[in-house]
Amino acid sequence: MSKQEEKIGQLIEKRAQTRLGGGEKAIEKQHARGKYTARERIDMLLDKGSFEELDMFVTHRCTNFGQDKKHILGDGVVTGFGTIMGRLVYVFAQDFTVFGGSLSETMSLKICKVMDMAMKMGAPVIGLNDSGGARIQEGINALAGYSEIFQRNIMASGVIPQISAIMGPCAGGAVYSPALTDFTIMTKGLSYMFLTGPSVVKTVTGEDVSQEALGGASVHATKSGVTHFAAETEEETLELVRQLLSYMPQNNLEETPLVECTDPIDRLEDKLNDIIPDNPKRSYDMYEVIGAIVDNGEFLEVSKDFAKNIIIGFARFNGQAVGVVANQPKVLAGVLDSNASRKGARFVRFCDAFNIPLVTLVDVPGFLPGTGQEYNGVILHGAKLLYAYGEATVPKVTVTLRKSYGGSHIVMSCKQLRGDMNYAWPSAEIAVMGAEGAVGVLYAKDAKASDDPAAFIKAKEEEYRDLFANPYQAAKYGYIDDVIEPRNTRFRVIKALNMLATKKLTNPAKKHGNIPL
Ligand code: HXC
Repeated sequence: MSKQEEKIGQLIEKRAQTRLGGGEKAIEKQHARGKYTARERIDMLLDKGSFEELDMFVTHRCTNFGQDKKHILGDGVVTGFGTIMGRLVYVFAQDFTVFGGSLSETMSLKICKVMDMAMKMGAPVIGLNDSGGARIQEGINALAGYSEIFQRNIMASGVIPQISAIMGPCAGGAVYSPALTDFTIMTKGLSYMFLTGPSVVKTVTGEDVSQEALGGASVHATKSGVTHFAAETEEETLELVRQLLSYMPQNNLEETPLVECTDPIDRLEDKLNDIIPDNPKRSYDMYEVIGAIVDNGEFLEVSKDFAKNIIIGFARFNGQAVGVVANQPKVLAGVLDSNASRKGARFVRFCDAFNIPLVTLVDVPGFLPGTGQEYNGVILHGAKLLYAYGEATVPKVTVTLRKSYGGSHIVMSCKQLRGDMNYAWPSAEIAVMGAEGAVGVLYAKDAKASDDPAAFIKAKEEEYRDLFANPYQAAKYGYIDDVIEPRNTRFRVIKALNMLATKKLTNPAKKHGNIPL
């Protein structure tokens, strides 16, 4: 064997050793936990054979607690680049088989390297998290490593898409990297996220709570809104990453690639002409409207189980990706509250940062009243959504289906918040408030003084409805650009988006705004 052949043999051996991570036993243990390894996950995530691994030979530098005798090639994270649907992405996957995926100083250097490359090349970063947190033996160096990652998450925010999949433990300060990224997907039953685990909770507050109840996927998908998706399996988690990316551009200077549209753009949906009930107190399902107007009825909903009174997600019109924001009359009558406002605002800002047009479907009776909301700061949360829409410079197409009252009318992408095309259905009611509230304020005394207060109020409500419960008052002043037939909504939205394709609008130069956080 020549010297060169010997060296190549050593390389092959080292590579094989790296690919085993923490070793066969640790891999078996990982599989026994019902989890895939970091490399198996990357293989599932990326286009077949596209992965190029970096830093396979990196090892940690710690000498504390006998660590100098425990070196594993590649350390606890697999990093590199590859493609998803042919487009470049960078990826890091924490390897639980190596010191529980805990973050060492060198692991953080590996992760930072791919993040820096992603910024230079203008491509998304995907993080697959499965880690016991800071590598305890490394102490403050592990904390410094996290901080380096967080700083890069912050700098990359709004420049390249960042997606986090949580496929195992993610606890303590480690949770802040996913929290800083654009979208988080948790795998049910395998993952959890919390700042302090059950034992600390028990010590500090006396509360008895399991890992799952404290920070499992379902909890964060329904109660906290921390995760945008709760997937059933690892396969579904990774598939969601791929799907999400298909709606995004590579970076903030590009647009999402068009896909071929096979759905007729002038498809009429007769059922939409009948979807609004005659009784204004009855609801209908906004999902039916969304499904009827977008390409092939395909809608990738984000945060579907959190603040269900507002619906957000990605769809396409004539092959062009858009962000859809819609009130859901079926839940709390589609009212806006603190959580719905926060949910909507973050999504609007994501779309605006990445040149994704916004299509807003409005049926909102107002903001949820009461001390619960006021004490919770609904003023500030509502202002977030208002700010997000007003700040957004992407094409904004708004369709008012039914109610659009008062402050919530303004917040939901009205004309004066630089809405580009504001359409209304004939069933739209664009007014300061609903008839009952308005008559209560204006005629309480007169009603009391009348012979038949109930009949008096009814008559006044009808008068108010005749005057305001329609789209024509707003259309008279140009606040609504056109009143459209519901069944023709898809075609009108597509025509508006086509017209807006060359939109150019910039905000005044500033360091950054001061969104009411
Ligand atoms: C070093 C760690 C580790 C860590 C796990 N391991 N976490 N090594 N630092 N943080 C090692 C274990 O010693 C074990 O090594 C191997 O990884 C697998 O762990 P197991 O405990 O056998 O696995 P499992 O039973 O599935 O339990 C997983 C776990 C548990 C729940 C994550 O390991 C755990 O509680 N780890 C500590 C979590 C933690 O407190 N982290 C620090 C948080 S503070 P061997 O050699 O036996 O296989 C923090 C601050 C971050 O993260 C601040 C950022 C700003």
